[in-house]
Amino acid sequence: MDVFKKIQELLEDIEQTMVENADELEKFRILYLGTKNCIKPLFAEMRNVANEQKKDFGQKLNHLKTSAEARYKLLKEGLTESQGGEEKKQIDLTRPVKTQALGSRHPVSIVMNQMITIFERIGFVVEEDREIEEDWYNFTAMNTPEDHPARDMQDTFYLKDSTKYLLRTHTSSVQARVMMNQKPPIRIIAPGRVYRNETISARSHCQFHQIEGLYIDKGVSFADMKQTLHYFAKEMYGHETKIRLRPSFFPFTEPSAEMDVWMGTDTDTTYRLTKGTGWLEVLGCGMVDPNVLENCGIDSEVYTGFAFGIGIERSAMQRFDISDIRLLFENDVRFLNQFRSVL
Ligand code: PHE
Repeated sequence: MDVFKKIQELLEDIEQTMVENADELEKFRILYLGTKNCIKPLFAEMRNVANEQKKDFGQKLNHLKTSAEARYKLLKEGLTESQGGEEKKQIDLTRPVKTQALGSRHPVSIVMNQMITIFERIGFVVEEDREIEEDWYNFTAMNTPEDHPARDMQDTFYLKDSTKYLLRTHTSSVQARVMMNQKPPIRIIAPGRVYRNETISARSHCQFHQIEGLYIDKGVSFADMKQTLHYFAKEMYGHETKIRLRPSFFPFTEPSAEMDVWMGTDTDTTYRLTKGTGWLEVLGCGMVDPNVLENCGIDSEVYTGFAFGIGIERSAMQRFDISDIRLLFENDVRFLNQFRSVL
């Protein structure tokens, strides 16, 4: 038989082959591309072809081989696509989905975020800073004298072999950092974690959270502070909320006060948190001491301001009826999962 004709026939067969399944595809592969394929013997025919036709013959044969390879690839692709189609049709749309376990927000974060939003609404801007702080920002700049008990190792965690670095004992350290870097008017809140060397019990822990507030401008008065804090209490604890300011002392404010919010003693938790008085101690506050302004490069003759530091944990415990502060830091998922539905 004429080998040229044979090539032509094979080429037509290849181009016309269709496959329905993997078996038929494999048959095609064995026939045209396998080790004993039907194209191979034709190469041996080369020596019988007339010299002037050898080149043409070689080219046609190569074309046949590459056509077989190309057709195989095409058929294979077609098959996987149509099989994919089959599979898609078989998806059971009524099958229940695998539920993805979503985390929950920590009660401290929930309360902290709510407080932040309340202050942002009246123009306070969030500032965050380091937890490992220099003694100067935490104490010296804040007008806390060298011999103040708070500076004692008994109360403060100093970094190993250091008298300079410590874990901040309050977010007031951010006040100093902001005043050093910004010009008044300043209106910031600084949420974050603080540390004190305290015995851990149901009521107190060696780590907790605060939100610091600082407002400095010309002519800021104690009345402005009271108004701001009353607004905060109403937004946070309800519009009927009663507050009281008790005179207090902080080295960095003068005059100073502590603010209590009326909670009553209806539940075990409020009874315990308020020590039976019904008044929950929520924050410390006061007019920024002129020494602090001067320490941080702000002219105390021109500017005045107020500052406050809100404790978060107590409010979170009151809100969610949590009787032991340790629960907030143990990361027990059985406890944390209870806050799934709270945003
Ligand atoms: N830093 C004080 C504390 O931790 C709270 C406070 C902040 C008081 C700002 C007055 C002004 O108790």
